[in-house]
Amino acid sequence: MTIVTGASAQPVSPPESAQQVAGAIAQPAPLLALRHIRKHFRTKRHDTLALDDVSLEVRPREFICIVGPSGCGKSTLLNIAAGIDTDYEGEAMFEGVPITGTARERAVVFQEPALFPWLNVRANVEFGLKLRGVPKEQRREIVDRHLALVNLTRFDRAYVHELSGGMKQRAQLARGLAVEPHALLMDEPFAALDAQTRDELQLELQSVWARIGTTVLFVTHNVREAVILGDRVVVMSPSPGRIKSIIEVNLERPRTPDDHAVADLAAAVRYELQNASETPEPRYAI
Ligand SMILES: Nc1ncnc2c1ncn2[C@@H]1O[C@H](COP(=O)(O)OP(=O)(O)OP(=O)(O)O)[C@@H](O)[C@H]1O
Ligand SMILES: [Mg+2]
Repeated sequence: MTIVTGASAQPVSPPESAQQVAGAIAQPAPLLALRHIRKHFRTKRHDTLALDDVSLEVRPREFICIVGPSGCGKSTLLNIAAGIDTDYEGEAMFEGVPITGTARERAVVFQEPALFPWLNVRANVEFGLKLRGVPKEQRREIVDRHLALVNLTRFDRAYVHELSGGMKQRAQLARGLAVEPHALLMDEPFAALDAQTRDELQLELQSVWARIGTTVLFVTHNVREAVILGDRVVVMSPSPGRIKSIIEVNLERPRTPDDHAVADLAAAVRYELQNASETPEPRYAI
């Protein structure tokens, strides 16, 4: 286990010249680079510094989990990466290009499934493809493939109100993946699910990720979930939101909640979190 703390927990790229000197041994260019992000929310009564000098680089195909106490800026950071929020100081780059708004390359999955209730599962998954003008036959093939990927083939004609919470999240995942994004940004996608469904979806997400190899940025309050899913776990501290430490998870996959090594590492992450938070009742669990 490697825990990087303090200033070095914010792995900023070396200046270009230093990178060139490093030459062939240099890391692959980051897919997502957030550099010195500072974000204020200003209202009539409050000025909240939500993020203060946050830097994070995510490599292609990496699975990054972000944990931290409520209000530490996890969603704010994810929204900046998604291009939903473009009002901040610092630099947010995706594939070497500044992020100026939302884009097909970055699909977002929220805690509450944002499915269209008037469309069935198939039509929901097909929606983004239609918008992009993908021909009908190709759409059918892509939708079939993604419904199979998330085990929803049997429910393709069901409407949203006929689905369980887990099925809705599977449908949302299929819809996000169908447009073949280069990164999947997930904000507590399993938080509203019961423990058993959550375990199932953690396993499924690992298998989907292993098969399609997309890059994932995943926000969660559940420390064990972060260790099960992540290549690295980013621990944030609140007021203002900063990266406290980054923990490498070098455990074999697939991982399950019952693995001893998962439990041990989750305890270490929880320890980091406890030190990160001065909130009396932090909202996270292992
Ligand atoms: N639209 C907004 N207007 C004003 N303040 C905001 C707004 N959105 C977030 N904040 C503030 O910014 C800080 C970070 O909020 P954010 O939602 O990113 O936290 P979070 O880590 O995702 O919390 P949670 O775990 O509860 O989802 C909080 O202090 C919050 O009150
Ligand atoms: Mg949030």
